[in-house]
Amino acid sequence: MTPGQRRQRLDALLPEFHALWHAQPFRELRPDWCARWPALTGELLALDDAATAHLNDDAGAALALLARHLPAVGELAVLGELPRRPAAEPAATGERWAWEIPGRKRSQIEAFAAAAQSAGVPVIDWCGGKGHLGRLLALHWKVPVTTLEIDPVLCAEGEALARRLSLAQDFVVADALGAEPAAGSHAVALHACGELHRRLIAQGAMAGVARFDVAPCCYHRGVGDFYEPLSAGLQTRLTRDDTRLAVTETVTASPRLARQRDKEMAWKLGFAEWQQLNIGAYRSFKPVPAAWFRGDFPGFLSAMAARSGLPAPSAMQAGQCERAAWQRQREVMRLSIVRHAFRRLLEIWLALDLVAYLEEQAYRVELASFCARGLTPRNLLISAWR
Ligand SMILES: C[S@@+](CC[C@H](N)C(=O)[O-])C[C@H]1O[C@@H](n2cnc3c(N)ncnc32)[C@H](O)[C@@H]1O
Repeated sequence: MTPGQRRQRLDALLPEFHALWHAQPFRELRPDWCARWPALTGELLALDDAATAHLNDDAGAALALLARHLPAVGELAVLGELPRRPAAEPAATGERWAWEIPGRKRSQIEAFAAAAQSAGVPVIDWCGGKGHLGRLLALHWKVPVTTLEIDPVLCAEGEALARRLSLAQDFVVADALGAEPAAGSHAVALHACGELHRRLIAQGAMAGVARFDVAPCCYHRGVGDFYEPLSAGLQTRLTRDDTRLAVTETVTASPRLARQRDKEMAWKLGFAEWQQLNIGAYRSFKPVPAAWFRGDFPGFLSAMAARSGLPAPSAMQAGQCERAAWQRQREVMRLSIVRHAFRRLLEIWLALDLVAYLEEQAYRVELASFCARGLTPRNLLISAWR
């Protein structure tokens, strides 16, 4: 399947299932689709904890469950399966390049470097942090590398690391939103957030970048109320929250972290219950300080109520909210399976928008994954050349 065919089908199908991926069970007691598909709702609410965890984590399995109730969903599963980009021989660069890089990050960088292809031209490492990726590429591809990064401390540390290996790697302290990659260069970006990778692609294509290898992340960064596609002719409309859904998938949490995540969700839902009792509606709230989750639920609820100008709950009211919270948490985890089934598809749709834009600018483009999802779920790689 060409990227164009995938984009066209996905863009035609996603709006059909808008109700399923747009609704947020955390905010809505029962999303509208529950009334439309009661058998699906019943099956989800009856799942045990293990099946719930599995289906929240495995979009293929969740889509298969959905397809039993909505057969048209079947086609979507195919659209979510991308080829893996063939990896070149791992670089024989020794260990010294990787000083100070945490294990998982290093594996991501090595996988990216093996999947990207040198164009034999200077490389610009966009939003490169300490320039770890740029350093590996300078060593492996033997081309000059410029790492562009807004944080001067990261640049200084990266410069020191490059000097230890006597590499041709420069650092430029600059805001990527106002910068332009050089004509004829090879632009690489590993996890440059939202507008930062979109800017690279839009400006880079205009400036005449020879080759791109871009692994996007945090698609919601820099998005206003609605996502504005770079390419022409798309009919799917995504809100900022929809673009955020695309990146809520994380590497499977340890049992301890999963329990912590469940507790945080339950407590927030407990506060939502308190809102409901007082103002009869859900209002989104600011991020909660981590320390507030370390005490007990009544303390948490009182702090949240005070911050939001709501009355302080009595001990009995806090107890009621806590019981309601855990019941809601159980339901939200089960109903969210539907939404989560779509997140990879939304991510692919977002990437295909960039692919189509590059094709409009006369690039040949491939979209593939560059590593296993367990290493990073943000494993899409857009490779373009002309
Ligand atoms: C997720 S990190 C990725 C770093 C690196 N590419 C890697 O994979 O290790 C994103 C980087 O973008 C940088 N950044 C954020 N905003 C930026 C901007 N406006 N201009 C340039 N760099 C920026 C951050 O400081 C951070 O180092």
